[in-house]
Amino acid sequence: MIHRPQDNRAAASAAGTLYDRHPINADQILLTLQQDGKDLSTLSPSDLRPHDQDHYGGEAAVFQLAAAAGLRDGDRIIDICAGVGGPSRLLAEKFARARFLAFDLNGGRCRGARRLNALVGLDSRIDVVQGDAQRMPFAEGSLDIALSQEAFLHIPDKQAVLNEAARILRHGGRLGFTDLVAGAELDERDRAALETGMEMRTLQSVPDYMNKFRAAGLSLVSHDDLSAQWIDILTERLEWYRAMNTGTKQTLGEGVHERYMDAYEVFVGLVQAGRLGGGRFVLRKD
Ligand SMILES: C[S@@+](CC[C@H](N)C(=O)[O-])C[C@H]1O[C@@H](n2cnc3c(N)ncnc32)[C@H](O)[C@@H]1O
Repeated sequence: MIHRPQDNRAAASAAGTLYDRHPINADQILLTLQQDGKDLSTLSPSDLRPHDQDHYGGEAAVFQLAAAAGLRDGDRIIDICAGVGGPSRLLAEKFARARFLAFDLNGGRCRGARRLNALVGLDSRIDVVQGDAQRMPFAEGSLDIALSQEAFLHIPDKQAVLNEAARILRHGGRLGFTDLVAGAELDERDRAALETGMEMRTLQSVPDYMNKFRAAGLSLVSHDDLSAQWIDILTERLEWYRAMNTGTKQTLGEGVHERYMDAYEVFVGLVQAGRLGGGRFVLRKD
């Protein structure tokens, strides 16, 4: 049976709000490139890459996830919660016969992804579709590989997104995703701060996730604990975001970035303290 959540409109609009004031956006990327003296009419995907990957570990993390999921050239691939499309562009360049769906809830990010795809000539290979990952508008068994990075953390009903991924994958198809995982010490106050400041909700522990995979009809292929490497990556990312302050005043408005940074510092503190960790999971649809 296909799981249909009762009502996820509140979650949908909340996730949209955070990403309407997020420092990684197409305007910001293009402004930075112009300031670096790039001609926007001759951009290549590699020009975008230092700026368009909204997950932890950059390009290497995308390739590691794709390899762990067994992605092959010619596959039909969906990036669930694709952001401004950085991972899809990276993989589309490497796997020249693969077809991509970049799926995201946030309208601004979808428009940004389309604009960036067109600027680097990848718009015919990547379809950008806006919608909620808890109910995706794709046919049963229509895809080979589903990927997702640092995004399920926003989705209130984790069982729904896992059920949906299982539904749209063909038998033998794989879901590979990375996500925050709740440590044993993460308490209700931490969870409330993460939800208010970062729209991170219903964070799962590893055993919670394992139960939900089974309920979705997904078998575990591999699980890697990324917690230690994410401490270093997030500490660096915090510095990168701090350094973006001047440019974001122009693209987002006065004070917006500062408020985001306050919440981001709380989040990174919890990762540094080991109360939050990270995991890479690969599942097969039986
Ligand atoms: C941290 S970003 C990750 C973007 C992308 N995976 C990347 O690595 O560049 C999280 C993304 O999840 C999207 N998102 C949040 N809730 C969603 C939902 N219910 N359905 C689809 N996308 C969602 C947000 O709009 C945002 O673009």
